[in-house]
Amino acid sequence: MKVQLLDLARQYRKIRKEVLEEAKKVFDSQHYVLGMNVSALESEIAAYCGARFAVGVASGTDAILLSLMAAGVGPGDKVITSPFTFFATASSIARLGAVPVFVDIDPMTYNIDPGSIEACLRKSRKDVKAIIPVHLYGQCAEMDGIRAIARKFRIKVVEDAAQSIGASYKGAMACTLGDIGCLSFYPTKNLGGFGDGGMVVTNDEGLAESVRMLRVHGSRKRYYHEAIGVNSRLDELQAAALRVKLRRLAGWTEKRVENAGRYGTLFGKMGQPEEVTLPHVGAGQRPVFNQYVIRVRKRDELREHLSGLGIGTEIYYPMPLHLQKCFRYLGYRSGDFPVSERAAKEVLALPIYPELKATEQRHVVSSIIKFYGK
Ligand SMILES: Cc1ncc(COP(=O)(O)O)c(C=O)c1O
Repeated sequence: MKVQLLDLARQYRKIRKEVLEEAKKVFDSQHYVLGMNVSALESEIAAYCGARFAVGVASGTDAILLSLMAAGVGPGDKVITSPFTFFATASSIARLGAVPVFVDIDPMTYNIDPGSIEACLRKSRKDVKAIIPVHLYGQCAEMDGIRAIARKFRIKVVEDAAQSIGASYKGAMACTLGDIGCLSFYPTKNLGGFGDGGMVVTNDEGLAESVRMLRVHGSRKRYYHEAIGVNSRLDELQAAALRVKLRRLAGWTEKRVENAGRYGTLFGKMGQPEEVTLPHVGAGQRPVFNQYVIRVRKRDELREHLSGLGIGTEIYYPMPLHLQKCFRYLGYRSGDFPVSERAAKEVLALPIYPELKATEQRHVVSSIIKFYGK
């Protein structure tokens, strides 16, 4: 039995007719940039996240870049973030001429550790303008601690919620836990488009207005530019398709949560090898499981074993950002962030998408158990 890490075709088959109808309407309208679908999706996403404003942009990466710009981050400023995240979190900082400052993560949730943020700020708070907590794998960072630190040191919080649309922390949704939140509609995300796309979500009218201006070359009035912005709009076609999918997102999220629970039950019943640690859900968290990530010993051998059986897995992420070649100039070394470095060697994402079947999950679990010789 083959089990793909993600099979988008299963989902597409169910919504194909509706998506094509909506796409046809866009083609017939000949209105491709910032039309009614983008505005409607912005309102719908804002409502979904329980926020006042949402602004569609070209990608999750641009959502981070534009949020930082709106927050006033520029050359020489420092932005604290996690080294254990997708590249775009930190590259967006660097692209503005600002400096990514990494601090280590919590070993249980893989999210940035508030204690380490505070320690870093105590050492030097000079030029630190913002913190980007990443809600990794679909679970929010420890936002109480992060917000308290941000208030104390008067710095902005930009949430990287690319993997966490719909996740909540102590009853409040991702993207409403800081000053501004960033979503990605990359096809593998819980709300994945048919290409690139992203959105900025905030309760702060000033920040929303800035992002709106920055995404169209820094202009509010056509051909009059008050800032050097970028061209970063969400396509009308993407928005039309995403609106079809958004109507189903809550149901799909429930399925992901159900599948995560089933992995727990299956490992419980069939015998969880001691080499395998299942994901930890923190207090007050409601994760959305964009990924289901286990921590294992002999990770690469297990991955090869599963691949040989036709089971797809992925490593998010094999190399922490402070060790990436392009960030050598920052001066970090191996050993600086041991929790992240260890996670990079041990994490493995298993299939978790909503349409995954119970029989497939059973096969994944039994194949892992077999590998460890149970
Ligand atoms: C944590 C994180 N941040 C940022 C991004 C960037 O989003 P995008 O690929 O839409 O630019 C992604 C997704 O790829 C992500 O997973």
